[in-house]
Parts: sequence; structure tokens; C-alpha cells
Amino acid sequence: MPQITVTEHLLLHQKESPMATGKFTRLLNELILSAKIITREVNKAGLVDVLGFTGEINVQGEQVRKLDEYANSILIHRMERAGVLCAMASEENADLIDIPPTFPKGNYILIVDPLDGSSNIDVNINVGTIFSIYRRPDDNDHSCADLSDVLRKGSEQVAAGYFLYGTSTMMVYTTGKGVHGFTLDPGVGEFLLSHPDIMTPPRGNVYSVNESYWNYWDEPTQQAIMAMKTPQPHRRKPCSARYVGSLVADFHRNLLTGGVFFYPKDSLDPKKPHGKLRYLCEAAPLAFICEQAGGMATDGEKRILDIEPQTLHERVPLFIGSRDDMLDTMHILNPEATD
Ligand code: AHG
Ligand code: MN
Ligand code: MN
Repeated sequence: MPQITVTEHLLLHQKESPMATGKFTRLLNELILSAKIITREVNKAGLVDVLGFTGEINVQGEQVRKLDEYANSILIHRMERAGVLCAMASEENADLIDIPPTFPKGNYILIVDPLDGSSNIDVNINVGTIFSIYRRPDDNDHSCADLSDVLRKGSEQVAAGYFLYGTSTMMVYTTGKGVHGFTLDPGVGEFLLSHPDIMTPPRGNVYSVNESYWNYWDEPTQQAIMAMKTPQPHRRKPCSARYVGSLVADFHRNLLTGGVFFYPKDSLDPKKPHGKLRYLCEAAPLAFICEQAGGMATDGEKRILDIEPQTLHERVPLFIGSRDDMLDTMHILNPEATD
């Protein structure tokens, strides 16, 4: 594999990708630097005081872990001064993060899940960072963007991706021209192209869902999951159950080897009537990547990328992965729907 960095890859594809502007390249490079800094802390998490909780509760009602906060502060510090954003949003911040007036603005809007899979930090299991990028609707406006500029359909994203802090640190992203994976070479300190033009297999042998919530799910949801562990005409054996508890890790494995990930809504549980995952910083960016890789992503009824969020931290049920497995799942979830 030739040693191509993210920036070189972006410029190589400049003619196809209108995203290869200087400002976008700067945005990507600041994200990459943030990920390298987070990688450094993740890799020594057991040795320095970044394990455990800060004692705060975030807007999600979840206990904030030190690495959540650390990753969030690194991303905000680097991105707010890069001169490429007119607004930023984070899973860890209740409201929009305004770009301080002292810093130059840009036309991009960045939404991040700074650390995904927080419950796995203290037990040394893969965690990740998810990012989603929009352009402000009116390029000519150079003030800070407001909420209406951020509450956009996922189909309006100009780029989306994630970093996965695992056996190696990977970056996977799309600008709407395919999905490309890069692996951090610690010796060089660069993300080098390792997985060009990722396409997800149309069927897989894995399903990922937290079955402890079985009794909260409606009948069609239970049938869709039963179908994954029952031999089918196209699959003699049941699928394997794989559930890491870090969305990025489960998604990445399924993206490369095929499979589906479900986080259904809890019909019988008032706590999660729309599921747990956030539309803007989790479902929409991964849906963009999945579709670009030939897969499919819905909320159980409609295409994830067609949903227009009404609130910054809106949650949606998520069914995402291999196309043919997803088509079968959608038929079970919506038996009355015509093709
Ligand atoms: P985050 O750490 O950003 O809050 O995300 C955690 C999410 C996601 O990574 C994972 O798939 C899911 O929570 C696991 O939820 P359950 O423990 O309810 O299965
Ligand atoms: Mn998350
Ligand atoms: Mn998170």
C-alpha cells in the first residue's frame, strides 16, 4: 500500500471532491491532531488520572468520565481557533458552542461525539470519536451560526467520519465520494491510507444488539432480532452475536466484515422511547458512511439521512449495516410496507 496521508489523499481526489478546499483541509488536519492527542491519553489511560468520573452529570443525564471531558476539551480548544467553523456542537455540551469573537470564523459546522463508548474506557476496550460536518446554508453570512443552521437532515452533511482507538488508531471518513480508512503509524505520526474505497458486504454473519432490553421491545423488533439468529434460505447458520458496547467499534467491524447493528426504541420503557443514540453526533454521521459504503441505515421505519432533527440532542432508534440484511429487517419491522 503506498504511504498516502489523509491530506495527500484529499488532494489526489481534489477534482472529484469539492471538499478539498484549504479550509476543509485545515478542519480535517485539526481533527487529526486532536485525535492524536486523544490517542496519547487513551493509550496511557491506566497510568494517568484520566480514568473514572469527574463527578458531573452531562446533558444526556450520564455521568461524565474524565476522558470524555478531556477529549471534549481538546476538540473544542483546537477547533474553535482554527478559523474554519461558524458553530460547533458536542454530545457533552447542552447548547451550541459559540466560536469566541477573538477567533476568525469559517463556513463549516462541526458536531462531535468526543468519546464514544465511555463505559469501556476503564476496562481497556475500544472507544472512538465521531464527527459530522455541515456547511452553513448561507456562505455569505460570516456571523456565528444559530441552531437552525445546525438542526439539518443528515443528507446535508458534507463529510462524516470517526476515529477508533483500538489495537491501532484508525480514521474512517467520507466526503460523499466513497469511504476511506487510514491507520495511524505511530513511528511517522501520520494517518496513512490502509483501507481505500471501503464497501460493506451486502450480507454479514454478525448482529449487534443489547438483548438485555428484549422485554422492552415491540413484537416486530423481537421478530427482526430472532431472524438474525435463525437459519434463513440465504444463511444456513444463525448469525454470531457481537456487542462491544462502543458504537464505533461495533459499526467498524460490521462495516468491514458485514453485519447489522440495532439500537431499537424501548416501546415499554419510558426512559428510552426513541432509543439511546443521538441523531446529530452518532446516527447521522455513521449513516452517511454506511450508505457511501453500500449499506443502509434507518430508524426502523425511514432512512436516517432523511430525518430532520428538532433538537440538538435528539435521539433516534438505529438499524444500520449490510444492505440485504437491512432490507430483510425492514420487511419484518414494516410488514405492511410495499417495496
Ligand atoms: P457514549 O459513550 O458516547 O455515550 O456512547 C455510548 C453508546 C454507544 O457507544 C453504544 O453502542 C451504546 O451506548 C451502548 O449502550 P447500552 O449500554 O445501552 O447497550
Ligand atoms: Mn456515543
Ligand atoms: Mn460520547
